[in-house]
Amino acid sequence: MNIDFNQIKIIKAEKENEMHKKGIWVVYNQNIEFNLITTEPITYENHCKWWESVFEQEFIYIILYQSVLCGYIRLTKKRTRNKEKNEISIAISKKYHKSGLGTYAYSIFEKEMIKIGITEIIALTDIRNLGGQKFFEKNNFKKGYIKYIKKIKD
Ligand SMILES: CC(C)(COP(=O)(O)OP(=O)(O)OC[C@H]1O[C@@H](n2cnc3c(N)ncnc32)[C@H](O)[C@@H]1OP(=O)(O)O)[C@@H](O)C(=O)NCCC(=O)NCCS
Repeated sequence: MNIDFNQIKIIKAEKENEMHKKGIWVVYNQNIEFNLITTEPITYENHCKWWESVFEQEFIYIILYQSVLCGYIRLTKKRTRNKEKNEISIAISKKYHKSGLGTYAYSIFEKEMIKIGITEIIALTDIRNLGGQKFFEKNNFKKGYIKYIKKIKD
């Protein structure tokens, strides 16, 4: 798909904006197969509960293409004992995957983060999410650590 990059914008999600709330839910479920934690779609009811408190620990931006919501970028602040870790989560509508839209939106987002004093961003992907890994590598994220998991009970 050919994208007009001048038509891409990112804006802060607004808690009271129903279009932002619903749009993020739609894009999230559309990309659920790439999710690290669960591949079960989330109900709108549960999404709304999450939405009520999430602004306290996250920056949430929505991606607009030609003024229509087509994705989101979240940055979750996770405090460890001596460091604050900022974890990114990005997803865009399937029809725009691999169009360059993600990279362009991310570059605007990164400039915003620099402006507000964020110095490091961490990205986690499922090991099978090769597209996600390639995306972060193309955007100059460096592989930091490898996590091993052993399931000892179903
Ligand atoms: C990850 C995501 C946001 C990337 O946005 P995008 O618009 O598709 O990515 P771009 O078109 O800007 O791609 C940039 C590079 O990433 C790689 N890439 C992105 N998606 C890919 C895919 N599905 N398969 C293979 N490579 C992919 C490509 O190498 C591409 O480089 P190229 O243009 O030189 O080929 C989008 O694909 C998405 O929403 N994926 C599902 C959610 C997800 O996995 N998020 C990441 C974990 S939080």
